[in-house]
Amino acid sequence: MSNKIAVLPGDGIGQEIVAEAVKVLECLKSDFGLAVEMEGGLVGGSAYDASGTPLPEDTLKLSKEADAILLGAVGGYQWESLDIAVRPEKGLLGLRAELELFSNLRPAILYPQLADASTLKAEVVSGLDLMIVRELTGGIYFGQPRGVRTLESGERQGYNTLVYAEHEIERIGRSAFDIAMKRDKRVTSVDKANVLECTELWREVMERVAKDYPEVKLSHMYVDNAAMQLVRAPKQFDVMVTTNMFGDILSDCAAMLTGSIGMLPSASLDANGKGMYEPIHGSAPDIAGQNVANPLATILSVSMMLRYSLDQVEMADKIDQAVNQVLDNGLRTTDIHSEGMQAVSCSAMGDAVVAALRG
Ligand code: IPM
Ligand code: MG
Repeated sequence: MSNKIAVLPGDGIGQEIVAEAVKVLECLKSDFGLAVEMEGGLVGGSAYDASGTPLPEDTLKLSKEADAILLGAVGGYQWESLDIAVRPEKGLLGLRAELELFSNLRPAILYPQLADASTLKAEVVSGLDLMIVRELTGGIYFGQPRGVRTLESGERQGYNTLVYAEHEIERIGRSAFDIAMKRDKRVTSVDKANVLECTELWREVMERVAKDYPEVKLSHMYVDNAAMQLVRAPKQFDVMVTTNMFGDILSDCAAMLTGSIGMLPSASLDANGKGMYEPIHGSAPDIAGQNVANPLATILSVSMMLRYSLDQVEMADKIDQAVNQVLDNGLRTTDIHSEGMQAVSCSAMGDAVVAALRG
């Protein structure tokens, strides 16, 4: 039986990078017998332009029916002045919420070939292999009440609410501990328990979850210190688990350790392992349409999809090997380019990965 993949390129460079990831999937289909069907849909600003909403009903339906979702990126300058309720980002947040994709896995792995591309010294980052587990459907991103109100004085006041129920903390905790069991068995839970009651509860629940995983060592870290430690000595971490907003911030920081945010894939999973896969970078409107974006994060997101949702580990390994191969061959998009390497476009990078797959 063939699996169905919903393909949602979104906005900006989303179109270009997803096209390259689709090339890779088509190659696995034609040359290696991967049984998948792909169907496209609109999300984000392009969906708003076509239908007045960033998450059209048919896209939501397609995403719910599919076995996995491949997403590019959403957002762009032309939609920044729209009401927040219909901004492109709402399309992405709506998908996460509607599909209950609460567990966001953001690996930060340094490819040895790219040690020079990092802004940090090679000895600080070489061998880096960190997994950030970000809670994705709760916290301040979704907490009620929220909005902008007018006070009696006439002054306006903006407000958002950081809220986590115990079950939400517990399930993301279990995700992190399950992953740690397959890795180095260390979890660092990141919070701000010295100031925020909500994350004091977070810390307490993490301690409780840890009791079911006696082999895993749990430690806690305040988010400000975690940000500092990430750039000071990132290799101290194995699995980092944290709230929605802290995870948003720390994962961008961790991405840069690897040389380029253009290299990092992600998985957003529900309780049954169904997932949405996307690069962690955004729609990069400044370089959209120029065929210069790095498609590797999206191609590696396909690899994660095959591994985590479609149970096609061998196909995933093939992609990872092909990406390693093109890096070994010295091919580099602008974001990871360094002296002596061969500068290539987005589509040439995709073609090179396909060529490497074919051997
Ligand atoms: C991310 C992005 C999104 C987020 C935006 C586009 C809503 O920054 O996936 O990290 O904040 O979650
Ligand atoms: Mg982000």
